[in-house]
Amino acid sequence: MERRGAVALLTLNRPDALNALDRATLEALAARLETLARDATLRALVLTGEGRAFAAGADIAEMRGLSPTQAEAFSALGHATFAALEALPVPSIAAVNGYALGGGCELACACDWIYASERARFGQPEVNLGILPGFGGTVRLARRVGPGWARELVLTGATIAADEALRIGLANRVYPTDELVAAAFAAGDAIAGKGPLAVAQAKRVLIEGQDADARVAGALERAAFGLVFSTRDRAEGMAAFLEKRDPKFEGR
Ligand code: COA
Repeated sequence: MERRGAVALLTLNRPDALNALDRATLEALAARLETLARDATLRALVLTGEGRAFAAGADIAEMRGLSPTQAEAFSALGHATFAALEALPVPSIAAVNGYALGGGCELACACDWIYASERARFGQPEVNLGILPGFGGTVRLARRVGPGWARELVLTGATIAADEALRIGLANRVYPTDELVAAAFAAGDAIAGKGPLAVAQAKRVLIEGQDADARVAGALERAAFGLVFSTRDRAEGMAAFLEKRDPKFEGR
């Protein structure tokens, strides 16, 4: 984990195994996320991978020996870890520097959005191994790219390149590999200049609203809209606009 100002960078660092997600890596990620969730000075998170992969999936060597019960527990660990990532009050950006396959693609989809490098490759190749996505892939991928593309990717196990990921809305933007992390940091820095309580409420409503019907989602939004009117940041933001100056947000 690295910190640059208000933005943290988490780098998966098992390049010899293309950052395959084994139990130890997921547990380490969960521990980092717990620390970050309590950090009141954090404004955004960037997630990337060391070497030529973002993450080439759950660790096949470790999974090989799992019993059905152990496999379910492994899936539960992935679900809990990625749910914690999704629930962070600050935006998270996946900077997908290479392969994002299986659990790697699911990890990227648990971030708020994805920036891809030109050499990124995405896919859910689990069916090639006789298994299926186990870290939320059947849910989050479909929400991001729609049911047709999610079904094609999950059911064929096909891998797609960065330009196709961009076209189907899986990646928001594509960058040359050496500019990728800087671009994600720039997005994080831009967020750091906004009111953090408003950003956190907007993120929460976007995610919780997705699981609710339109009436409940609308009610969540109205309640959050009212809530932020109780903050100093809201008063400062509006005053600054009307006084033609930059706002100074304090997160209060
Ligand atoms: N789990 C465990 N180890 C993995 C892995 C995974 N998901 N993905 C890659 N590795 C390991 C390889 O076994 C290899 O280890 P070794 O050097 O000890 O033999 C190393 O990472 C490099 O991978 P390699 O396959 O040699 O690289 P490549 O450039 O030829 O191929 C991929 C790259 C990504 C196409 C290929 O590694 C692959 O298909 N990985 C599995 C993807 C997958 O099915 N993910 C879903 C898992 S549920």
